[in-house]
Amino acid sequence: MDTLQLLASQIIQWGALTLMFIIGLGIIYIATIYVIDKTQTEQTIRRNYPVVGRFRYFFEHIGEFFRQYFFAMDREELPFNRADRSWVYRAAKKVDTTIAFGSTRPLNTQGDPIFINCPFPVLDKDVMPSQDITIGEGFTDIPYTTNSIINISGMSFGAISKPAVRALSKGAKAAGIWMNTGEGGLSPYHLEGGCDIVFQIGTAKYGVRTKEGELSDDKLRDIAAHSQVKMFEIKMSQGAKPGKGGILPGGKVTEEIAKTRGIEVGEDSISPNGHEDIHSVDDLLDMIERVKKATGKPVGFKTVVGHLHFFNELCEKIHERGLQSAPDFITLDSADGGTGAAPQPLMDYMGMDIQESLPLVIDILIAYGLRNRIKIIASGKLLVPGKIAWALAAGADFITSARGFMFALGCIQALQCNKNTCPTGITTHKKSLQEGLVPEDKAKRVANYANKVLYGVGLIAHSCGVKEPRALNRKHVRIIQHNGRSTPFEEIYPTPSIKTEYVKIVESN
Ligand SMILES: Cc1cc2nc3c(=O)[nH]c(=O)nc-3n(C[C@H](O)[C@H](O)[C@H](O)COP(=O)(O)O)c2cc1C
Repeated sequence: MDTLQLLASQIIQWGALTLMFIIGLGIIYIATIYVIDKTQTEQTIRRNYPVVGRFRYFFEHIGEFFRQYFFAMDREELPFNRADRSWVYRAAKKVDTTIAFGSTRPLNTQGDPIFINCPFPVLDKDVMPSQDITIGEGFTDIPYTTNSIINISGMSFGAISKPAVRALSKGAKAAGIWMNTGEGGLSPYHLEGGCDIVFQIGTAKYGVRTKEGELSDDKLRDIAAHSQVKMFEIKMSQGAKPGKGGILPGGKVTEEIAKTRGIEVGEDSISPNGHEDIHSVDDLLDMIERVKKATGKPVGFKTVVGHLHFFNELCEKIHERGLQSAPDFITLDSADGGTGAAPQPLMDYMGMDIQESLPLVIDILIAYGLRNRIKIIASGKLLVPGKIAWALAAGADFITSARGFMFALGCIQALQCNKNTCPTGITTHKKSLQEGLVPEDKAKRVANYANKVLYGVGLIAHSCGVKEPRALNRKHVRIIQHNGRSTPFEEIYPTPSIKTEYVKIVESN
């Protein structure tokens, strides 16, 4: 036997020994798992079917992905179906968004809107850009004027990652839209891109709190000193979890996030389920006045609609106190809004959907003569042009989207925002997962998406016979009824007249 043969036979022997060793280890491992499963008392399936029972949990986990990629039809998935997500992906990548052959959207689903095409659409040469709107005009030192239609809804730094905030900030600047900070305070990354910013004051007052957790006027002034910060939004509630504060697990509270919020590193960041200093409509109006005084900028609040009586009372108190006391804007969030983390009972059952709440609140403001004074921002699954055009027609002045922009950043709807494992780096603080999210690249997608939405809403407006998106109104929409036939939107929600006692006050302003 020459040396080469000897070496070969030794390698085979080592190989065989190693294989036996690995098999042996495998058997010991499986035996251990068997004993663990058989003796544990928490999980029935594992106790009754040791070892193999574990596959159930694995398949349950990966089933989500299999259903998404292989089995769910285009319009089936929740919260967002593939047809809508794909539109956003293509818009963000600036690739062709046209589709062929025919729509996969059933056109006779009860409650769905359809737009009324005009026999004489607006010709391309006659279209107009969206008009400027001024928020807080005549009632704030520094009102905010913008013609943006779709903007970035609040997502706190903490719920989303540093590269995500950076990409959104740069993208918002490129598209000329605003970005809401969410309740986690203002970081240098929000400011980095140079976009307009709406600062959100959450129930924990992150970023504007004293050591004791109370609202600090000095800190409000510091935030307002940034010229990029255009407005302040008091978060009363959020569609996904009315009556529950923000939940940021300790694993996501990094040093930077702790500093931005004014809290301790690594500790669960759980904000109160309501403002400890707002217990009534009067308290809310007092708070609006206080923030406005400290900042000189428009102040509004965000809420999901529950009791309509709240809005009636709000309007009555505003008239008692005078128009200057009114919020400059109200953000209406939908019960089906998104979140980084929320308890399922609140997510599934609380509050009104934007489709129902938006026209109702608009009508209350009209009845009290406050429609022009208070601007309305609407949010909740309004991420494709058709839905945004509906919201404008229903009466919204602006739209904000959170998850639309997450899709633009590359979100694959993995439903893991509440863990630190987001595979696309958007809602995780793990460096390895953030590597794929390159802010410079994704900022372009954010801007592309916003621009394409605007273009799409424009297409609908022009087809309805109006020159710009904000000229859409309820006359342009019909709503599908239970029998498959459609009814004019304005017949379901007829425009109310102003209550006589308020006509004079409104006319004098
Ligand atoms: C990851 C994530 C974080 C969020 N953080 C906040 C927040 O800090 N403050 C807030 O008011 N809303 C927050 N929201 C809710 C959104 O701002 C928005 O109101 C809601 O998702 C509806 O819009 P959408 O359907 O376009 O996502 C968050 C949503 C998501 C998905």
